[in-house]
Amino acid sequence: QKRLGILTSGGDCPGLNAVIRAVVSHATLSYDWQVLGIPYATQGLLERQVIPLHMHSFDLRGIDPLLSMGGTILGTINKGNTLACMDEIIASYQALKLDALIGIGGDGSIAILNQLAFQGHWQFIAIPKTIDHDVALTERSIGFDTAVNTITDALNRLTFTASSHDRVMVVEVMGREAGHLALHSGIAGGADVILIPEIPYSIQELCSHLAELRNRWQRKFAIVVVAEGIHPAHDATCQPNQKPSCGRGQYIADCIAKVSDYPIDTKVSVLGHIQRGGIPLALDRLTAAAFGRAAVDLIAKGQFNQMVAWQNGQVVAVPINQVCDHSPLAVAPCSELVQTARALGIYVGQ
Ligand code: F6P
Repeated sequence: QKRLGILTSGGDCPGLNAVIRAVVSHATLSYDWQVLGIPYATQGLLERQVIPLHMHSFDLRGIDPLLSMGGTILGTINKGNTLACMDEIIASYQALKLDALIGIGGDGSIAILNQLAFQGHWQFIAIPKTIDHDVALTERSIGFDTAVNTITDALNRLTFTASSHDRVMVVEVMGREAGHLALHSGIAGGADVILIPEIPYSIQELCSHLAELRNRWQRKFAIVVVAEGIHPAHDATCQPNQKPSCGRGQYIADCIAKVSDYPIDTKVSVLGHIQRGGIPLALDRLTAAAFGRAAVDLIAKGQFNQMVAWQNGQVVAVPINQVCDHSPLAVAPCSELVQTARALGIYVGQ
């Protein structure tokens, strides 16, 4: 009987437990393997801790909560001392007598786990998860769809209050150095402006856009979505006096106040970790099921150092080295969605 380890690494997101559930179900039903959860990613490996996972072991009155629970039952870490303890972690994998390891992580975690797997001769499979959607070579990553919906819902709510008070709502969203989350949710949530790290913008143009909304369309409020990773504006004349640590949402609100030629009442909402919480939506659950199944099948076929990925409507396996070479994946400035945003009259920069 094979001993299959599974861990979640990096920031949590909705859908991780659904992946764990899919892996346990398929490994048990189709192969009769033992699945061992490793708590807190490489920290758990280092400490040689395992949680045996069985089908239905978390059921409450026959209901399996894993499908709909946010977060991760295994716990996770964002910044561990993995690289400093590589030899010990490799030794732990051997000591635990694991036949293979499934790591559910974003681009950073996948790269580190792959390095460990390479040096320790582990049999490793990665499953991509990230609300930032910046893992390359896959059209889907666990957690992204639910996060887009959470932000879209927040934008809907902010629209009503903004319109009642004639305010400009500046909404800062996560995504690290990539603008996928801001772009997708901004379009879905009816934003008037979307600023992302990949596209330069000008505060003058942004303010002209707000003025046009007001003068041409009698729109006295606006929704401005700002990705947390945006760079300072091009217009050198409007650098506000702020500490560099100030959030980008506040930075944009201050710039608008400084440059606009009429008074604008701006409010800033930083959505923060709300974007990572919540119940996984159907698309993330479906992707979790498909990825979990494919990961187990790859192990059965003896195909390792691969990441399961969604490409052209199918689950495929891509070599992790290729994923690492192309990640983190940025928004292409001429992408379909950027063009769509512009066509709908959304200011997305130059
Ligand atoms: O990578 C996911 C993410 O949520 C980013 O969008 C965000 O910048 C970061 O993690 C926040 O990390 P932490 O939870 O450590 O504050």
